[in-house]
Formats: sequence, structure tokens, C-alpha cells
Amino acid sequence: MPSLQNYSTFGLDSSCASLQTFTDIPSFLSLYRKDKPTYILGGGSNSIFTEDFEGTVLVNRIKGISHYDTDSHHFLRVGAGENWHNFVTLCMQEKWYGLENLALIPGSVGACPIQNIGAYGREVNTLIDTVEVVLLDTGEQLLINNHECEFGYRDSIFKHGLANKVLITHVNFKLPKVYQLDTSYGELAQLNAPTADDVYQTVISIRKSKLPDPADLGNAGSFFKNPVVSKDVFEDIAMQFDLVPHFIVNADASERPEKIKIPAAWLIDKAGFKGKTLNNVRCHPTQPLVLTNLGGATGEDVMTMANDIIASVRDKFGIQLEPEVRLIGSKGLISL
Ligand code: FAD
Ligand code: EPU
Repeated sequence: MPSLQNYSTFGLDSSCASLQTFTDIPSFLSLYRKDKPTYILGGGSNSIFTEDFEGTVLVNRIKGISHYDTDSHHFLRVGAGENWHNFVTLCMQEKWYGLENLALIPGSVGACPIQNIGAYGREVNTLIDTVEVVLLDTGEQLLINNHECEFGYRDSIFKHGLANKVLITHVNFKLPKVYQLDTSYGELAQLNAPTADDVYQTVISIRKSKLPDPADLGNAGSFFKNPVVSKDVFEDIAMQFDLVPHFIVNADASERPEKIKIPAAWLIDKAGFKGKTLNNVRCHPTQPLVLTNLGGATGEDVMTMANDIIASVRDKFGIQLEPEVRLIGSKGLISL
């Protein structure tokens, strides 16, 4: 059974029945079998194989980046198997700005629309024009426009209506030539008259200072999503705890009532898990939203730690945390 340890940044010692790489649509279609459990993998930075997977893992390495521009925009067509950070870096070098806040996010371009990757005040959906897919059932190629992707916070149609139904082959980006930098988030707000390159460099250095590098310490980034709660739930918590960090999600929108995002890192920290270790899984000391593999962790260790955190946060705050990561068991995706 081929090992998956080097194919997932969390690095559990799990395997699969078959592991194949494809570089174009015909090779994918020749490998894909409807009657067998299949998992499509990019960089494996959001996928944790908690058990040996009884199916086939198909690793996407569709490459290629093409560009043209108009008076107002740069248009980029990017193969889903391109590395995300390398693509962002290329854009910076070519002065195609807009993606600077999203530097150093691990993984592939093809996975970026799936959970609508976001960081430091920007989400990728603001720059995606269309997504090219192949329907797994029929092999038909389709173009899905931005609106049809139903993007939300760490969410899109690829997690719902089209979950496990498509291979994303290319992502088409539309970057405006007249653009505004987004420097509202945390440390970026302290920059004095920054350029796009300053934002790019600063995001990289903040991330390196806070987040563990998977090359040194296995992890999959934020394990949970930041919960979004009603104003009543937030006010209840704010009565019991001082200085609860929070963001109003729909401050500018006409949509009411207000929804409030509370950092899961704060909830997990207050629940006493920051720096805590269970067997070989640790809740990271500088960012408790990240669980790490200290070496030799098992899927059971991960599930136990994650369920302990969920139960403690629910008992203390009445909030149900939801995983951001994809957990894969022997037959496919599983939930906590
Ligand atoms: P994988 O783990 O390979 O796949 C993720 C999901 O997408 C799986 O369900 C898989 O089946 C599916 N998939 C992948 N490619 C395709 C395809 N071509 N077609 C169809 N389905 C596909 N995320 C953020 O949003 N913001 C962050 O700031 C951030 N920081 C991170 C920091 C670290 C240290 C780490 C390890 C992760 C971080 N992440 C972050 C999470 C992760 O990087 C993103 O979710 C990324 O987009 C995953 O890409 P991947 O190619 O590694 O996905
Ligand atoms: N905090 C604590 N204790 C800590 C650390 C943080 O209480 O030890 C609180 C602080 O109040 C801090 C807040 O958590 O202000 C938010 O922390 P941070 O700015 O690090 O961001 P986050 O909300 O924890 C989110 C994303 C990250 C993304 C960063 C930057 C989610 C689930 N996570 O983390 O994305 O990089 O913002 O924008 O939305 C990922 O998705 O894998 C990921 C890493």
C-alpha cells in the first residue's frame, strides 16, 4: 500500500490502495473509476488521512499559467496543479497585484476556490473570474462563473452541491489594474504608505512568526473555522469574559441581524488547550487554532484531541466548533 505521509502536510503514517499522479484531463479520465472510492489531492495541506484509505488517491499536477491583459484588467488562466505561493510570487514579480495578502498559503491553485482561501483581510473569491471543471460522472467540461461558485467564508459550492462531483482543472483570475491595497487586518494596519510588495513581504513575515512550517512540524493550518454567532450569543459571552475579540461579519451589508465572528483561537485558548499535548498531537503554543503532529501521531490522537477541544468549547461557551480541515477515513471523508 503506497504511503500518504509525504502527500499530506499533517504527515500521519497512513496509506492508500493506489496512488496515481495526472498532468492533464485525458490522463485523469483514464485513471478515474466511478466504482472505486477516489480522493483527489492537491498539496495535501487541508487533508488529514486519519486511517488507511481503501481507495485511490489521484494527485493533481495539471500545470501551466497563461496571461493576457486589457486596459482595465490582467487575466490569468492557471493549471490547478500549480503551487499557490509560487503563483502569488510570480504575480508580484510581474506586477499583477491583488493576491499579496494571500502569500505563503500552502497548497495548489486548484484547491483555492474550494474553501475560498483567505488571509489578512482578503478572500480569493474577490479575484476569481471563473473555475474550469470536469464532471466526474460524465467527463463533461464546464465553466463555472464566480456567482455560481456560491463563495462564502471558507465555503463554496465545491463543498456542497458540487462536493465530490468535479475535478477542478484550471482557475481563471481577473486582477484589476487599478486596485486598492487591503491593509486593514492587524499588523498590516501599522504599515506606512505600503506598496503591494510591502504587503506581500509583511504577510510572509507575520505568517512565519505565527504559524508552524509544515516542513518542520506537521500541521494543516487552522483545524477549525472561526465560528459566526448571533449578537445575543456574543453579548452573553461578553458579559462573562473581558475583552472578547470579535468582528462584525456583515457590518457594511444591509443584511440584518448582525452576525459576529469570534476567533476560535481565543475560545480554544480560554478553554485551556493552548500548548496542551495529547500523545503526539499538540495544540500549537502561538496559534491554538493549529494542531500539530509532534512525530508519530495517529489518526486516533488527532480525533481525540479535536473532539476534546470541541466538547470543552461547547461546555464553556455553548459554541459548536466546526472543522476547517478535511478528515479522511478508510472509505472517504468523515466528520468529527
Ligand atoms: P488538499 O488538501 O490537497 O485538498 C483540499 C480539498 O480540496 C480536498 O477535499 C480535495 O479533495 C479537494 N481538491 C484539491 N484539489 C482539487 C481539484 N483540483 N479538484 C477537485 N477537488 C480538489 N487556508 C486558508 O484559507 N488561509 C490560510 O491562511 C491558510 N493557512 C494555512 C497555513 C498552513 C501552515 C497550512 C498547512 C494550511 C493553511 N491553509 C490556509 C489551508 C490550506 O492551505 C488551503 O485549504 C489550501 O487551499 C489547500 O490546498 P491543497 O492543494 O493542499 O488542498
Ligand atoms: N488569539 C488568542 N490566543 C492566541 C492566538 C490568537 O486569543 O494564542 C486570538 C487573538 O484575539 C487574535 C485572534 O485570535 O486576534 C485571531 O488570530 P489570527 O489573526 O492569528 O487569525 P485566526 O482568526 O486565528 C484566521 C484564519 C487563518 C488566516 C488568519 C489571518 C480561519 C479559520 N483561520 O486565523 O487561516 O491565516 O486568520 O488572516 O479563518 C487557515 O485557514 O488554515 C488559516 C491559517
